[in-house]
Amino acid sequence: MSLKFITPEQAAEFIHHDDNVGFSGFTPAGSPKVVAGAIAAKAEAEHAAGREFKIGVFTGASTGDTLDGVLARANAVKIRTPYQSNKDLRNCINDGSAPYFDAHLSQLAQETRYGFFGKINVAVIEAADVTDNGEIVLTTGVGNIPTFARLADHIIIELNTKHPKFIKGLHDIYECDDPPFRREIPIYKPSDRIGSPVLKVDPAKIVGIVENNMNDQVAGFTAPDEVTQTIGDRVAHFLVGEMKAGRVPASFLPIQSGVGNIANALLGALGKNPDIPAFEMYTEVIQDAVIGLMKEGNVKFASGCSLTITPEVLGSIYDDWAFFKDKLVLRPQEISNSPEVARRLGLITINTALEADIFGNINSTHVLGTKMMNGIGGSGDFTRNAYLSIFTCPSVAKGGKISAIVPMVSHLDHSEHSVKILVTEQGVADLRGKSPIQRAQCIIENCVHPDYKQLMWDYLKLSKTTHTPHTLASAFKMHLEFAESGDMHNTRW
Ligand code: COA
Repeated sequence: MSLKFITPEQAAEFIHHDDNVGFSGFTPAGSPKVVAGAIAAKAEAEHAAGREFKIGVFTGASTGDTLDGVLARANAVKIRTPYQSNKDLRNCINDGSAPYFDAHLSQLAQETRYGFFGKINVAVIEAADVTDNGEIVLTTGVGNIPTFARLADHIIIELNTKHPKFIKGLHDIYECDDPPFRREIPIYKPSDRIGSPVLKVDPAKIVGIVENNMNDQVAGFTAPDEVTQTIGDRVAHFLVGEMKAGRVPASFLPIQSGVGNIANALLGALGKNPDIPAFEMYTEVIQDAVIGLMKEGNVKFASGCSLTITPEVLGSIYDDWAFFKDKLVLRPQEISNSPEVARRLGLITINTALEADIFGNINSTHVLGTKMMNGIGGSGDFTRNAYLSIFTCPSVAKGGKISAIVPMVSHLDHSEHSVKILVTEQGVADLRGKSPIQRAQCIIENCVHPDYKQLMWDYLKLSKTTHTPHTLASAFKMHLEFAESGDMHNTRW
């Protein structure tokens, strides 16, 4: 058989109201870029004709505006999972027009296979190459596509000519068996390869190939400011101390680091620290900073689910492929984020909190307890299974009017049982081996912004001495005060 080229509009004809569509990629990296626009146009036409048209949007993580943005603006989202970061989609999620379930990223593939979410009707896959016999070379992100492609009735390929065919070998495609027959995932070091360099699909399911010549919509990072730089330096200094104390091996441990500007600044700080040896990464998102550190010899190898990097940095990798090809591997997210592998490799995990409480509970997802920001992403996969789990955040938000550290988190993503270290620009709280009261004292002393310290000490005094001292009637007073006056400084217990 030979595969045929079709237009995005022809591709959209295979997608019907109420279908579940699984898209490739992870973050904008490797996410399809043109078919979703045609689906959105079809949705708008159907709505104009008085007919319903909404689809389930299953992805690896966030995507670009050409996927989440267009579908949200077309009011075409029946259900969305497992992670997003698009402004228009976020608005639809928070006004209820786009239902969303926020899921641990390592779990979505297996739960889709278990049948928890109904059928996957169509898979849309961005590819650097595809053969007539159904061997696909993926691009910069993998996500959940091995599972979506296997379960779908129809497959649409977006062949992206921005990516050279010589990247075959960048990916390691492996799907877990399902219980009760699952064996261990045989990864014993970040660079182990256990699967296939190509995604193999049934060629009879491929309904057509759509051409795409677009870069991943990855925004550049803002240069580290004083706060993010200080947080990065504090984490690096803390880890050096752990090595010197013998609690982290002298050869160091693989690093997982989260997304965003803090994570990027932090990696830079780790790389620059002369006391930290060159290290490996076992992470989900490989960001710009990792590539810089590789060029300088500070990162030896990176295993991830995506290369979420700017087009310029990606170009520099392709230009120097001989250097990079044995230093990078991209895996499906049930492998890159596998709790089993994270625990076996002994990862140092570093993620960002929106809000923490004085007992070490973390809110990564909900602004002031009710509004979804992005989602839990892989932070739970890694934190719960880390050798050493670290959370970072600036001590204040919104120009100081919000304290990121509060008596009780307004939404819980990571509990006190999983969180070992909290770092703000104010300092480091080492929570290991401490009781709730000791943790509270440590966090208030080291991490809370000076403007809010007394308020927090007063809260602790106010609360009756029990195992976890809380005054439930006051626990959310800071949030209520911000809602009322726009400034947590005005809180009175
Ligand atoms: N209360 C209310 N709003 C807060 C806040 C708080 N305690 N802390 C921050 N915010 C606001 C900021 O002001 C900002 O608002 P704006 O967009 O209106 O300016 C917004 O939340 C984001 O804050 P910012 O400091 O820019 O965040 P970031 O880019 O460093 O991202 C997370 C932080 C937590 C949103 C992000 O890391 C995330 O989505 N994490 C969850 C997933 C994850 O950890 N993935 C990695 C796993 S591998």
